[in-house]
Amino acid sequence: MDSTRTIVYSHVMEIILASGNRHKLFELKEILTDHTLLLPEDIGISFDFEETGTSFLENSQGKAFALFNKISRPVLADDSGLIVEALNGEPGIYSARYGSVNGIELEAPARNIYLLDKLQGESNLSAEFICCMSLILDKNRFFVAQESFKGEITRESTGINGFGYDPIFFLPEYGKTVAELPEKEKNKISHRGKAGYRIAKLLEEL
Ligand code: IMP
Repeated sequence: MDSTRTIVYSHVMEIILASGNRHKLFELKEILTDHTLLLPEDIGISFDFEETGTSFLENSQGKAFALFNKISRPVLADDSGLIVEALNGEPGIYSARYGSVNGIELEAPARNIYLLDKLQGESNLSAEFICCMSLILDKNRFFVAQESFKGEITRESTGINGFGYDPIFFLPEYGKTVAELPEKEKNKISHRGKAGYRIAKLLEEL
C-alpha cells in the first residue's frame, strides 16, 4: 500500500506556527483571520530550533521545514529581527540573543538598554525591522514573503505595547514608538503585518 499521505486543504486551514513566541502568534492571528493558528505546544509538540542560518530567509525556511518534517501539517515560520544602520546591521539575525552572555539570553528590557548604550553619541539612528515568513503546505509546496519596516532607534525606552525592541523603535511620522501604538495599528504597517498580509492573500487565492 502506498504510504504517501495526500494532504487536502479546505479554505479554513489549521496552521502551526514554528515558534514559541505568543506575541508573534497574537499579531499573526489578527492577520490570518480565516485560519486557525496554533503554536506547537498547543498540539502537544515540543519544538525548538537552533538558528544556524546566515540570513532571515535561511532561518525562516530552516524553522519551517524542521517543524513540517516533524508533523506533516501546514506550517508557518517567522524569522524576524532588527537591523541598525550605525551598528553595521546588528543585531540582525541575532536579535533574539543580542547581548547574551554564556548562552543566557537577556530579557527584552535589558537587551534594549544594551542596544541603546551601543548607540550613545551616535547621530545616525536609522533602523529597520525585517520579517521573513515561510508557509509550507507540503514538502514541494512552499511560499516565502519578506518585508521590512523602517524607523529610528530612540534614546530611551517608551511605551508598553508589543514586544522586544518595540519600546525603542520610533516612527517619526507617528511621533511614537511602536510600543505606544495600538496593536492593530502596528499590524497595518509592521514587517510582520505586511509579510503576513501577503501570506493571507496567497492562501485566499489557492
Ligand atoms: P526570532 O524568534 O529569531 O525571529 O527572533 C526575533 C527577535 O527579533 C525577537 O525576539 C525580538 O527581539 C525581535 N523582533 C522581531 N520582531 C519584532 C517586533 O515586531 N517588535 C520588536 N522586536 C521584534
